[in-house]
Order: sequence, then structure tokens, then C-alpha cells
Amino acid sequence: MATPKPPCKPKKIALKAKSLCVEQSTVSAELSADAGQRAAKSKKIATKPKKQPADVDRNFDDLAHRFKRNVYDRLKGDIRLAILERDLSEFIPEASWAVEADGVAAQPMKILDAGGGQGQFSISLARQGHEVVLCDISAEMLKLAQQNCLEAGVADRVHLHHGPIQSLPASYREQFDLVLCHAVLEWVVKPQELLQTLLAFSAPQGYFSLTFYNVNSIMMKNLLRTNFQKVIDDDYKGYRGSLTPTYPREPEAVYQWLAELPLEPLCCSGIRCFHDYILEPKHRMNEPQQQLSLELRLSRQEPWRSLGRYIHVLSQKIA
Ligand SMILES: C[S@@+](CC[C@H](N)C(=O)[O-])C[C@H]1O[C@@H](n2cnc3c(N)ncnc32)[C@H](O)[C@@H]1O
Repeated sequence: MATPKPPCKPKKIALKAKSLCVEQSTVSAELSADAGQRAAKSKKIATKPKKQPADVDRNFDDLAHRFKRNVYDRLKGDIRLAILERDLSEFIPEASWAVEADGVAAQPMKILDAGGGQGQFSISLARQGHEVVLCDISAEMLKLAQQNCLEAGVADRVHLHHGPIQSLPASYREQFDLVLCHAVLEWVVKPQELLQTLLAFSAPQGYFSLTFYNVNSIMMKNLLRTNFQKVIDDDYKGYRGSLTPTYPREPEAVYQWLAELPLEPLCCSGIRCFHDYILEPKHRMNEPQQQLSLELRLSRQEPWRSLGRYIHVLSQKIA
């Protein structure tokens, strides 16, 4: 498909989720049987970061602490969350951040946060009363997620599942009103298969929120830094242990994979369309409020959207 065209105005679509009580008990039962969950709950996830083979999905055990410092403790994390919250609350009536003041969403959703890491976005949704299953292959990321959920007072609504998305139990099929897969596609070996797997967990008419790392943005960064050889060689690998994704994605390829799935695109936004290009790192914190509001304003306008370090595509499953 061509670049997904965001509809001009917010769409109000009623969810057809099954009874939440039934779904919640199913989720709890399955999770209590899960070994990773038991380990996370008893705070005994003992992992020693291992050397990773190149041909497997990237486990963040050795990156967990750097990820928090480099992404969520900075303005770039705030921009990421602001764009996602804006997109979801505009198109998913049940995900309105406006209800947060009351504490509970009018209609709680069941959400799968696939490769959810330390849970920053899960927590934001759980605060509204939504029920989240956060799945990750990294025990270190889950330990931080557990800590963050406890601190945020939402540990009872965020269920941690330790293991690959691809091995989630079949009983989760068609169970989730909203499936999130944020900043994971660029770390997995078989992205198209992952998308198919994820969609199977979505309920009929469920929402699918995907972000992926945009290869054109890393090309631009290297061009601006005069790293021409990297662009000539098409080689954007970071140093060992860096947070530069293993497989930056070509947006047109991702849009094509999505077009092959039973999905209707709702909106498409660039995340950090200019922030990461600010040449002097010390200037990246200048005027944070102005940056945030400009990022929000430009995120759906071309050419800015296509320059985003990440691209967010929100879609809805067609029956
Ligand atoms: C860049 S982090 C993103 C975390 C979170 N989604 C966010 O946006 O903050 C990527 C996460 O995906 C996890 N991951 C990678 N491949 C995975 C897989 N096949 N199954 C589950 N988690 C996976 C990593 O361990 C890591 O925690």
C-alpha cells in the first residue's frame, strides 16, 4: 500500500470485545501458569547477559539500563510517548488520556504489549484502568518493568510474561482489544511473520499500534555527519551493545506487509521528525515545550512524517 493516509478527523468505532471479566480471569490463569511470570513475581529472575548470536531476535538483557537512560530519561522519550498518546486517544475512544484524571476508563480494554520492555507505555494505559499483558524475552527488562509497575501502583493490572512473542499461548488468540508492538520490528529476524503472529492475537475489530525504526532517518543522520561510506555500504550497524537497531526498516516495505494483512489504516505519524537531527547534542534539550508541540504538529505532515526516527502506524483489524 502507499503511505497510510490518516483520516482527516477522529473515528469513533465501538469495540466488540468479549466480557472483560471472563477475559481477565483467562489471562490471570494463563499467566499464573507461566514460568517467567512466577519468576518475575518472586523477584528471582536471575540472568547474566549472554553474548547474542546475530541471527536471533535481540534480547535486551545487556541493554536494559542503557535503554532507560538513553530513551525514557530524556526528551526523546517524552516525544515518543506524547505522539503515541495523541494518536491512540484520537482514534480509540477507550484510550482517551482525558479520563486519566478520574482514574478509570469508561470501557477498559484488554491490551497486549508485545516486546513491551520496561513498561512505560503499558503503565500509561494501566493507569486508565486497562488490563495489560506485557510480554518480553528479556528478563532484565521485565525486572525493571515490574519495579516501574509497583512504583506506579498498577502492578495488579500489568501481567508480565517472560518469553518470545512468537510463543505466546494459543489461548490468547483473538483476545486483545489493542495490540501494541513498539520499537520491536527492527530487532527481529522475521518481521513479516511477527506481524502475522501479532494480528492473530487481536480481537475482531481490535486495534493494532505499530512503531518501527525508519531506515531513511538513520541514512539522513549519517549523511549529515558525513559518514558517506556507511550509506554507500548500506551499513548502519551500531557498535556492539549499542542501541542502534539490528534491522532498520524501509517504511514502504512495512506498509506493504501491513497492506497484506486484514487491517484498515487509521493514522500514520513520524516520531521525532527533527529532534534527533539537531546537530549539537547539548541543544537537544533546548526549549522542550516548543520542541514537543512542534513534533506533535509536524508528525503527520509530509515531508516531516517520513523523516521521523520512528514511524507509528495505527490500524484496525477488519473482522
Ligand atoms: C527497543 S525495546 C522496546 C521496548 C518497548 N516496546 C518500548 O517501546 O519502550 C525492544 C524490546 O523488544 C524485546 N524483544 C525483541 N524480540 C522479541 C521477541 N521475539 N519477543 C519478545 N520480546 C522481544 C527486547 O527484549 C526489548 O525489550
